[in-house]
Amino acid sequence: MTVTLGFDVYGTLIDTAGVTEALKAFAGNRAAVFAGLWREKQLEYSWRRALMQNYVDFSVCTRHGLDFVCTALDITISDYDKRELMAGYRMLPPFADVEASLPILKDRGFRMFAFSNGKPGDVASLLENSGISSYFVDVVSTDEIKSFKPNPAVYAHFLRRSGATGKEAWLISGNPFDVIGAVSAGMRGAWVKRSDKAQFDPWEIEPTVTIDSIAELADAVAQT
Ligand code: 2OP
Repeated sequence: MTVTLGFDVYGTLIDTAGVTEALKAFAGNRAAVFAGLWREKQLEYSWRRALMQNYVDFSVCTRHGLDFVCTALDITISDYDKRELMAGYRMLPPFADVEASLPILKDRGFRMFAFSNGKPGDVASLLENSGISSYFVDVVSTDEIKSFKPNPAVYAHFLRRSGATGKEAWLISGNPFDVIGAVSAGMRGAWVKRSDKAQFDPWEIEPTVTIDSIAELADAVAQT
């Protein structure tokens, strides 16, 4: 049986905290707080948009999140600099374990897809910029059905696009809400616990496996 892996992008392959360095010019020693809140608002806006069925592309959620945080933290950033920060969001760095782990997974026969809220072009630039695009069969974007994770329809869309069935399809994500969404929709879910402080939501739905690094993924999947 060929196992299909759908990799979440932001927060799993790509480190959204990578924007912190650029934010130091505007937020000084509050740059990490700024980056964290920016990410929280970006996701919150995507959830609300999905629930309201008022779709805009993910980069608009990102830009609105940026505008919100500037006001919340009372930090002025010009439109030009905001556009530069947004451009930086398309060049965020990969997590350290990604580059070494993907070739091993490919050699072990996994079919790998990138599966993201991001528009296909934005995801493609991130993967290209990180030098990892060749490991993926394709990019599956929730933009193709104009909604966001964790709408169950987006996981069904992933299964249709990848040609996999739920039991042989895994969502690999550093985002607990995404893992819960995928497992609830019938997929298997690997939670990549990206920091010691990361906490999984105390719901009735748990990850199929929890790993500290993508380097542990092949063995974790094989043992299930
Ligand atoms: C992604 O879809 C949820 O941001 C996350 O890439």
